[in-house]
Amino acid sequence: MVNVAVIVGSLRKESYNRKMAHALAALAAPALTLGIVEIGDLPLYNEDLDKGEPPAPWRAFRDRIRPVEAVLFVTPEYNRSVPGVLKNALDVGSRPYGHSVWSGKPAAIVSVSPGAIGGFGANHHLRQSLVFLDMPALQQPEAYIGGVATLLDDKGNIANDGTREFLKTFLQKFDAWIKRNPAR
Ligand SMILES: Cc1cc2nc3c(=O)[nH]c(=O)nc-3n(C[C@H](O)[C@H](O)[C@H](O)COP(=O)(O)O)c2cc1C
Repeated sequence: MVNVAVIVGSLRKESYNRKMAHALAALAAPALTLGIVEIGDLPLYNEDLDKGEPPAPWRAFRDRIRPVEAVLFVTPEYNRSVPGVLKNALDVGSRPYGHSVWSGKPAAIVSVSPGAIGGFGANHHLRQSLVFLDMPALQQPEAYIGGVATLLDDKGNIANDGTREFLKTFLQKFDAWIKRNPAR
């Protein structure tokens, strides 16, 4: 069993991305244990606050990410990039300098949108940050989930057989990727 932190890039109560994260957790078990790590209460990153005793939510977040074996990002696209709340979480986890909790952890990205492009811009902007954070990110298959409003039923299950099979394959490839690139 592999412990994977799931970072959801939306704070919306009825978020499609959050529903997709839950659906992914169900599809991933038992090989991967996917647990959402909340990012909505993290104060905006400010280096001044990282001297001495950093804010408690930052410390709790860093402590939660540090022991996991891998990270799965499930995110919407905001203005062709990642939502600020997700970027903030990346920044909080990356500091203090030399003590990033992300470093060396294998990662994968699922971008989700009601639109047709499936969050491609967010997916690739996030990849740019993961290069610097030294997180080897699964290359194939890529997961740009467009038209999400028609893909989930009212219980949040994936209502489309093709999408369900694709996501199962994606998770199997992620599992293999984690084994090939174990957290350092
Ligand atoms: C500030 C903002 C910017 C957005 N920009 C994009 C965008 O660039 N591309 C896109 O596909 N959807 C965009 N959307 C629409 C989101 O995909 C949509 O609101 C989606 O439901 C957000 O994900 P969630 O359901 O998980 O909250 C934007 C939404 C907001 C609020």
